[in-house]
Amino acid sequence: MLDREDENIVWHEHHVSKSERAKLKQQRPCVLWFTGLSGSGKSTIANEVERRLHQRGKHTYLLDGDNVRLGLNSDLSFSDADRVENIRRIGEVSKLFVDAGLIVLTAFISPFKEDRNRVREMMQEGEFIEIFIDTPLRVCERRDPKGLYKKARKGEIAEFTGVSSPYEAPQEAELHIQTENMSVSTAAKSVLEYLEKKGYLRC
Ligand code: ADX
Repeated sequence: MLDREDENIVWHEHHVSKSERAKLKQQRPCVLWFTGLSGSGKSTIANEVERRLHQRGKHTYLLDGDNVRLGLNSDLSFSDADRVENIRRIGEVSKLFVDAGLIVLTAFISPFKEDRNRVREMMQEGEFIEIFIDTPLRVCERRDPKGLYKKARKGEIAEFTGVSSPYEAPQEAELHIQTENMSVSTAAKSVLEYLEKKGYLRC
């Protein structure tokens, strides 16, 4: 990585601050970082949480694994190094959106603990909310909504998370949601309750 100070590039404070933008929106900006295996339900639950927040007049933005890989990160593969870069860029984008005063939702496998923690470190205290969508591999594989596990088992996809590439489960996530016997609606409700309880939905 380049050292930007050597290139005379320094961070500028703007005239309108993050807290002023947040106040206008009547919310505490943060990132809801959903992590879990492919097919665990991250995107589905994040979508439902976003819908509920939007209904309550909250300003949100959802960054979704597959969509971001079609655009911003279309140059990245699923090698370990590219997954690290994937999460680094999403972290930076999330940080900008949090600075804009938004409640950001991200739905990426984000399999490596160190990368998730690096994003946490980038944010201010309380801005990073890690949500572990804990769905056992056998359930994800049974669901297999995109037929990818089947392909991975046949060796047609290399380095597939849970099959031939690791997933490091969070140990201290702010929220641990076990979805096996839980509806999407109940999972989304538990996220909203957490935000409510911790004061993110007022300013
Ligand atoms: S991450 O590991 O870098 O965080 P990300 O969330 O962006 O992954 O993308 C995961 C999605 O890409 C999966 O839901 C799946 O649809 C697709 N995918 C394609 N190849 C792979 C692979 N080798 N491992 C995991 N997911 C893959």
